Amino acid sequence: MSRKRIVAGNWKMNKSLEESQALITEIRGMVRDEHRGQSKFIVFPTFLALPSASRLLEGTGIGLGAQNCHWEESGAYTGELSASMLRKVGVEYVLVGHSERRQYFGETNTTCAQKVKSAIRHGLTAVYCVGETLSQREDKSYFKVIEEQISEGLFGLDRKEFAQVVIAYEPVWAIGTGLNASPSQAEEIHAYIRRLVAHQYSEEIAADTSILYGGSVKPDNANELFMCPNIDGGLIGGASLKARDFIDIAKALR
Ligand code: 13P
Repeated sequence: MSRKRIVAGNWKMNKSLEESQALITEIRGMVRDEHRGQSKFIVFPTFLALPSASRLLEGTGIGLGAQNCHWEESGAYTGELSASMLRKVGVEYVLVGHSERRQYFGETNTTCAQKVKSAIRHGLTAVYCVGETLSQREDKSYFKVIEEQISEGLFGLDRKEFAQVVIAYEPVWAIGTGLNASPSQAEEIHAYIRRLVAHQYSEEIAADTSILYGGSVKPDNANELFMCPNIDGGLIGGASLKARDFIDIAKALR
């Protein structure tokens, strides 16, 4: 995927099936009226809502993503879903390594690398999430943490596979706290991630990689974040649950 301006909504464990359908219908209408052909929109509803979301989004240009996948095709993995199952219901993107999955479900860079591989093998774009905790920011180990997350999670991919990756920088201390990273804090890490990619692959591939910022993005702070040269858009949590806020955040991407 070439570098794109993206606004993505991670709905996490929110919205019933009916509520998800209503929110998608609302977003779809607003995108049609106000935003056709501009930034790329992606929504990540719960697994339950994916098949009907896929039908509702058909022909709209809005991308559909899942919040997780397993790395195996099928088998004795109670409670899990595979990338190929997701692909078959119209999913195009999958979040891998969100900090909530790392924190509550024991995901590691190693399991993330397996998930990213499997997602790409089945034609999905992996949106790989990285970010440091508050204590890692305070003890200044965050460059090392990000470097490990990126290299261990992604750098086993060849160049062609890497083209199917979007990176999201989400500092854990900024998620759901109302305390977003300042534009200069975020830009510093985005530029660093791009340098890591350039070093591993090439300048050209780095320039082609979309790197999103996530963590307390709201309509009133999106503009200053999205103006930064290495920030290609946002991965939005809370504010993506309201169609108006989600669309207003996307306006800042123009
Ligand atoms: P908030 O926008 O609610 O801080 O969540 C960010 C996030 O985790 C998106 O994946």
